[in-house]
Amino acid sequence: MGHSMGIGIQYYEKQRIFKLDTPHTSYIMAVVDDENFLGHVYYGGRLEDYDVSYLLRTQEKPSAPSGNNRERCSFMDAFPMEYPGHGLGDYRDGCISVRSKGGHSAVNLTVTSHKIYDGKKKLEGLPATFGTEKECSTLEIECEDATLGLKATLMYTAFHDVDAITRSIKVTNMSGEEIYLTKALSACLDMDNKEFEHISLHGSWARERHIQRQPVGYGKYAVSSLRGEPGHQEHPFLALATKGAGQDAGEVYAMNFVYSGNFFTQVEMSQYDSVRMSMGIQPEDFCWKLEPQESFQAPEAVLVYSAEGLGGMTRSFHDLYRKHLLRSPYKDKKRPILLNNWEATYFDFDTDKLIGIARQASKLGIEMLVMDDGWFGKRNSDNCGLGDWQVNEEKLKGGLKYLVDEVNKLGMKFGIWFEPEMVSPDSDLYRAHPDWAIQIPGRTAAMAREQYVLDISRKEVRDYVYECVAKVLRSANVEYVKWDMNRPLSDLGSSGLAADRQGELYHRYVLGLYEMQERLITDFPDLLLENCSGGGARFDPGMLYYSPQIWCSDDTDAIERLAIQEGTALVYPLSTMGAHVSDCPNHAIGRTTPFETRGYVALAGTFGYELDVTKIPQEEQKMIPEQIAMYHKYNDLVREGDYYRLASYQENKVYDCYEVVSKDRKEALVTYVQVLNSSNRRSRHICLKGLKADAVYRVEGMEGSYLGDTLMKAGIPMENFWGDFRGKLVHITAL
Ligand code: GLA
Repeated sequence: MGHSMGIGIQYYEKQRIFKLDTPHTSYIMAVVDDENFLGHVYYGGRLEDYDVSYLLRTQEKPSAPSGNNRERCSFMDAFPMEYPGHGLGDYRDGCISVRSKGGHSAVNLTVTSHKIYDGKKKLEGLPATFGTEKECSTLEIECEDATLGLKATLMYTAFHDVDAITRSIKVTNMSGEEIYLTKALSACLDMDNKEFEHISLHGSWARERHIQRQPVGYGKYAVSSLRGEPGHQEHPFLALATKGAGQDAGEVYAMNFVYSGNFFTQVEMSQYDSVRMSMGIQPEDFCWKLEPQESFQAPEAVLVYSAEGLGGMTRSFHDLYRKHLLRSPYKDKKRPILLNNWEATYFDFDTDKLIGIARQASKLGIEMLVMDDGWFGKRNSDNCGLGDWQVNEEKLKGGLKYLVDEVNKLGMKFGIWFEPEMVSPDSDLYRAHPDWAIQIPGRTAAMAREQYVLDISRKEVRDYVYECVAKVLRSANVEYVKWDMNRPLSDLGSSGLAADRQGELYHRYVLGLYEMQERLITDFPDLLLENCSGGGARFDPGMLYYSPQIWCSDDTDAIERLAIQEGTALVYPLSTMGAHVSDCPNHAIGRTTPFETRGYVALAGTFGYELDVTKIPQEEQKMIPEQIAMYHKYNDLVREGDYYRLASYQENKVYDCYEVVSKDRKEALVTYVQVLNSSNRRSRHICLKGLKADAVYRVEGMEGSYLGDTLMKAGIPMENFWGDFRGKLVHITAL
């Protein structure tokens, strides 16, 4: 039995054990048997001992497969595999499978060598977390399937400052023949079941990322996408929480995929009550041809273990993404408070109208005007014009530069909307290049929002569209881009790919998207990029590598947003959530909420407006400068602080409450919104979290001062509001 010290990654040669340590977690693997299987030994709270390989149960029957081929299948089907293969006796779903020249699908990977180094390499062509040599260590385990001539490099990075481990895999064809990769997941955890409950983020258009929780039972439960993007419906996140785990206590194992296309997550509980939790590219409709010596790099999965419930998990994800994923120059800065004209005007605008809105907005303290859909081609409704990225000078008299200059003269920045991945059948682009749309010869391709998806797996298509976007950006002082994507993929067929490579299209599409966005932020390094997909259908860590914020949802109703933002903030930092105050009755659902409440809810995100300031009532206009003052006062705290969920109206059906605490724990902000209003209720006491027990705090609206300990145990009073959907912010400061 040995003990490990410090943080980082160790290999214990005698016992053939790998141990990865983050500040509070350990991850242990062992190489076993003469055949060098890689077993998953342990993931959980930090251990000082490293040799806990008794957990592999290799002493129980049937033990080593090389000495007992009679029961090899039993071994394969029970052993906790670190990266399970396929088709050789492990009847649980594996991580990798192929179609070989001989037509076979089986894969079995065993360890040949490894290396450990400080820091982390980039994943070529893919977004990924990053860290310096001081901030993380990386382990690469080389495995092979000698029969196939297939090499797989399992990559692990352990962060030194956050409790997160990332995983990925690179597969190389070392044989002399082509091999088709039909499945290549990125991460897998084989563990004993601990009465786990499965947590996922489910939704729909305008109802994204609602938290769903259910017990794990025998069999398989998969959450995945075939839409070519994660989609509104499912999300590349998966957590297993021990029964009853809450915000503060209980164990949580979570995975999040740094990828923006078809994903697959699954939990499978076996006959032995072991659980296999896996994540990667959706294997359905995936088939990647590897010529000899060619490699395939799978995207990265992030693993977080928390012994402090969902709250601990959330804060690890937030810290990891803020420090090791977001790259934008804006990531640690206040974002300009924008006004987007979508809900203000839809397609019905011209230069004068926009300048009129900007003039009034600038007086109220709004800092940027964003011109949304409808400024190009003949786009006066959503049924034409996508692809024709030339300014419509009938609407924008004097051109784009004139408008931008006028807006700049008002002291405001200017931003613009694009949907570069799309083409309308009624567009000059489609008439010139019908084969640039993704479609299958001989079939009438399905439209959605009356548009097709451009085949950006093709370089000429990417280059053309990119140049259109860049030309507009070069023509005027545009400081922000909203990059939208308003339909999922279907009719998968590319005129640029050979028959035996059509199964690569989904992934090549995503690689094309990443290449275009990388180019954009490289060529325009000061640009603020906000991603969007019909609201929040592509809100994932992959996109956050390119844009520090993503439009959360097309539902801007403050109450609906509580659930959407609760689910989003379960994983993603508040600084990444695009959130705006819009007009009422709300355009998505028709509800009327107080203007103040709309402001409180939007302050939890990037903050901005999506309304015509010249048309809303005077009283609401007057509130805008107050809201803006709150944004300036609190945004550093909201962007950089630790997030604590205090109550969820999804659970209690009455009110929502969350808190952000500064890293030095000297300041906190509580947001409270009362959703249900019923008679004869009293005020309630809300217990705060994350404060210093022995520090003395002043609470806005309360007489006197109190110890953090008191505020966390006894709570602060919150009135029962009279009137619908009211709420408030409470600022807490240390003396
Ligand atoms: C999507 C976006 C909206 C808006 C429209 C424009 O629905 O989510 O915010 O930009 O497209 O067509």
